Amino acid sequence: MTVKILGIETSCDDTAASVVEDGSFVHSNIVASQSGIHANFGGIVPEVASRQHMTTLVPVVTQALAEANLELGQLDGIAVTNGPGLAGSLLIGLNTAKGLAMAKDLPFIGINHLEGHIYAAWLEGFDPSVEPGFPLLCLIASGGHTDLILMHDHGGYNLIARSRDDAAGEAFDKGARVLGLGFPGGPEIQRVAERANGYEPPFPRPKVKDSLDFSFSGLKTSLLRRAQDRGWYPLNPNVEHDPKEIAIVAAAYQAAIIDTLIHGTLKALEKYHARGLLLGGGVAANSLLRREITERSPVPVVVPRPAMCTDNGAMIGGAAWFHLRNGQQAQWNLDVIPNLRLG
Ligand code: KG4
Ligand code: ZN
Repeated sequence: MTVKILGIETSCDDTAASVVEDGSFVHSNIVASQSGIHANFGGIVPEVASRQHMTTLVPVVTQALAEANLELGQLDGIAVTNGPGLAGSLLIGLNTAKGLAMAKDLPFIGINHLEGHIYAAWLEGFDPSVEPGFPLLCLIASGGHTDLILMHDHGGYNLIARSRDDAAGEAFDKGARVLGLGFPGGPEIQRVAERANGYEPPFPRPKVKDSLDFSFSGLKTSLLRRAQDRGWYPLNPNVEHDPKEIAIVAAAYQAAIIDTLIHGTLKALEKYHARGLLLGGGVAANSLLRREITERSPVPVVVPRPAMCTDNGAMIGGAAWFHLRNGQQAQWNLDVIPNLRLG
């Protein structure tokens, strides 16, 4: 018998729901992005995000069920992200999921958002547990995290490195803001960098002494200095700057972030003898990262398509199947944990 789970994700600024069968087949995947709203503020405003989830989540869930051609009562479980993330945003998803599961007496599963990003790979027809096999090194790079996690088996994780300050996605978002580009910054920097033509002295590649940990805040500061030196920052909407010059700097900045991620990941692969490398999180949608890491990795690289790297409900419904298979369900008193860790 197959198991169909509704996955709900509201940890940050995307309102998402999906129906997933057996941890691998996606029946529907609805994501309502709030980025247009937050773009007006140049970053995510937590209270705006949670209020937006409040109005959007029920229509998103309704659409996910309709596209899967299912009624609530035909589901085999309801899963929701309970951390890490913004408390107010997580609460909307958690309480909605709890209410739905309780009303229909369905199994209820709480999922760590980072574990969701890992299980996105299983939705893509890969089964990394078969090929290349465990242990897998997982690079989860998003707006809130830059974590290297060693996955020994389903549910078995060790956090081996993380960012000491800004996450890689945050470096993209803050860098884009300094350069007067849009939000979210990752796709914007990638877009202009693809058209860049010219030389810019490389940005420093930040390293943390005697550690595999990452650090991105110094890189952001050196971008800020260059932007100030050229008169691009503070931003002045009445002054136009040469987009070609900005593209060249954006490309150098992107190269420094991606190179830093790849350097640390390759060192960790060597140290922990992982059999494969799995990428997840919004930054894993970056085309330069995807291309370079696949070329430079000595082990097979598993990377979901970009839409499965950024936040979605399918990764939550997918991860939940592996929990349910092992009889793991949440209690009705499950709470949100904004700083939840994995491993
Ligand atoms: O995983 P995600 O959707 O949400 C969080 O869990 O944070 O990641 C969002 C982050 C943002 O910082 C965004 O700028 C970045 O992922 N991002 C990218 C790209 N697409 C999204 N960064 C670089 N290149 C991209 N193509
Ligand atoms: Zn995420």
